[in-house]
Amino acid sequence: MIKVANLSDIPEGGSKLVMVDDTPIALFNLKGKIHAWDNRCPHRGSSLADGYISDDIIQCKFHLWEFDVEIGCAVANSNLKVKTFKFEIKEESVFISQ
Ligand code: FES
Repeated sequence: MIKVANLSDIPEGGSKLVMVDDTPIALFNLKGKIHAWDNRCPHRGSSLADGYISDDIIQCKFHLWEFDVEIGCAVANSNLKVKTFKFEIKEESVFISQ
């Protein structure tokens, strides 16, 4: 596990982009719950951390594909998954499994 952020770095309803080795990971804070996703949109790789964030949906800014945060897949096609990462929160910090 590697520390990637302080919880206070991820605003509620917002995101923070971190790098683990060469992998960009988007940390989202939605209704106080953290999610760790591969930042690269499964469509054409645009940054999901820069997308439109609502309570349940991350929408890529580039072509507006929508992804369901709870199940980590596209709203229109549940077979289109976003890679997610295991993480732990300890003492107000976020740690990602390598
Ligand atoms: S790159 Fe994200 S919807 Fe096209």
